[in-house]
Amino acid sequence: MSTKRFDGFCHFVFVCQGKDCSKHGSKAIQQKFSHEIKSQGLKSVARVINTKCTDRCKEAPAIIIKERWLGKVKEREIPYLVSRYLKTDKN
Ligand code: FES
Repeated sequence: MSTKRFDGFCHFVFVCQGKDCSKHGSKAIQQKFSHEIKSQGLKSVARVINTKCTDRCKEAPAIIIKERWLGKVKEREIPYLVSRYLKTDKN
């Protein structure tokens, strides 16, 4: 087994790229999160990770952010989600 530490990263957004989420724009969701993380100055502490199906297909597109599953995510909600869940006093 090989391991690698995520030095410095303390926040992860998991964006499902499974079949149903892909049909509902998950690639654009992933790109918008990456853009928003950068524009809110969080690039050094937050990372977006694509996942396979997370069994929330009826809620597509589905994400996991701060240990919460969120479904039917809209691109226009992403600036708020980044601000609410990823910005902390420690950033
Ligand atoms: S395809 Fe995304 S939750 Fe199943």
